[in-house]
Amino acid sequence: MNENQRLEGQQVKTGNPSDKKSEKDYSKYFETVFVPPSLKDAKKRGKEEVKYHDDFKISEEFRGMGDGRKFYIRTYGCQMNEHDTEVMAGIFMALGYEATDSVEDADVILLNTCAIRENAENKVFGELGHLKHLKTQKPDLLLGVCGCMSQEESVVNKILKTYTQVDIIFGTHNIHRLPNILKEAYMSKEMVVEVWSKEGDVIENLPKVRRGNIKGWVNIMYGCDKFCTYCIVPYTRGKERSRRPEEIIQEVRELAAHGYQEITLLGQNVNAYGKDFEDREYGLGDLMDEIRHIGIPRIRFTTSHPRDFDDYLIEVLAKGGNLMDHIHLPVQSGSTDVLKIMARKYTREQYLELVRKIKAAMPDVALTTDIIVGYPNETDEQFEETLSLYREVGFEAAYTFIYSPREGTPAAKMKDNVPMEVKKERLQRLNALVNELSAKALEKYKGQTVEVLVEGESKNNPDVLAGYTSKNKLVNFVGPKTAIGKIVKVKITDTKTWSLNGEMVEELQSVEVK
Ligand code: 5AD
Ligand code: SF4
Repeated sequence: MNENQRLEGQQVKTGNPSDKKSEKDYSKYFETVFVPPSLKDAKKRGKEEVKYHDDFKISEEFRGMGDGRKFYIRTYGCQMNEHDTEVMAGIFMALGYEATDSVEDADVILLNTCAIRENAENKVFGELGHLKHLKTQKPDLLLGVCGCMSQEESVVNKILKTYTQVDIIFGTHNIHRLPNILKEAYMSKEMVVEVWSKEGDVIENLPKVRRGNIKGWVNIMYGCDKFCTYCIVPYTRGKERSRRPEEIIQEVRELAAHGYQEITLLGQNVNAYGKDFEDREYGLGDLMDEIRHIGIPRIRFTTSHPRDFDDYLIEVLAKGGNLMDHIHLPVQSGSTDVLKIMARKYTREQYLELVRKIKAAMPDVALTTDIIVGYPNETDEQFEETLSLYREVGFEAAYTFIYSPREGTPAAKMKDNVPMEVKKERLQRLNALVNELSAKALEKYKGQTVEVLVEGESKNNPDVLAGYTSKNKLVNFVGPKTAIGKIVKVKITDTKTWSLNGEMVEELQSVEVK
């Protein structure tokens, strides 16, 4: 948080909405907190140094606010959001609230939203519709919207106009303000809106209630400065800011001490980790090289941007051990021309060269990716280049998407001559290839014995256990429930398009940390 934002908040609170150009009449919100988002401000990147805060505490005035009350958070989107939910749950618990799995039982319901594609947003609007009746049954219920959608002007305007059952909207930079926001909401009859558009700081000591005790997420950086032309994330998540390595290492140590078996280092573009440090030369490679010495069996990271993936990181990853042999490396398109329009800042050839280097250092690595089809004006030839790149790399899995225009991004203003039918056909063709190569990659495991971190019962069959291999392959297998939370050896008996079946052979004795 910076002084400007504090002042902005106060100014607006006394009746001076920043959205002066808007025709909307916001006067009824003047008496309550009303800080709407601005994509224009969110786009700005200043040179200000990152400030670190470790003085978060629940002030006396909020203590006990949640006594006798229950909260429910529904999370949409990526792991970053999942982890934000863990932080919000931590704040709720510190306020005295109790968690509930049922919306009917809840006194506060939060939707932690994703803005990445239109269908993600539509799901949230649908859910707000479903939840409306609960407000009539329980007038004291607070219904809130947070996460990436709340950072968008268009969304906030739509909620103000159409979804008046909502009591609270707060942004991704306002999570630590949850106690204040809840208090405002209890006192106010109007919708409380607090969305800071710019964030330049890192807040360190927020409480967390982690989901599960097997796999843990650890934020290493926030925000993104890449501004790919299709992407809303640099607007919803702010500028790149890295957590200091000491704090990260301390958090990983604590997770290891609590018996966590796997950690995933999180960031929107983890390869830019450390680029904002003014006092040291320190990157993701350095961080991974330190963390691998901590006694935690599995270490992953997500998400990578090929442009910043450097040789030192490859060298460190090649050391193996508890650094997993799976890299998720979003390519988005196989056509240099499309990559240029996307502002990805690499060519097809440069991507292939990076893959060559990774495979040279880690011959057995599993590569997975993200791909967008039907970018504005994408030609058949350009799409074919995506298919050929997919085969050439030999990706083992992919998340594939039809391009979805996001208001405020440069691509949303581009004219587009590709009909939706064509986009859908391209997605189907790509998915057929993705399935084919996934099935092929999995076939190789038949008869082999793999190490599986057991997460619990299989979703479809409680008599079967499920977990993931180091390469992140889902394995369903027969074994004792005592294996849950452990890394065990499983012999693969059958392979499918997206998963492996097997039988447990033995439990691993110990973790080897080099
Ligand atoms: N439309 C479709 N897919 C998108 N992604 C990001 N923005 C968009 C968009 N506007 C995809 C990218 C990214 C993944 C998280 O979501 O492939 O890597
Ligand atoms: Fe969705 Fe991106 Fe926000 Fe994650 S950071 S929730 S993927 S918009």
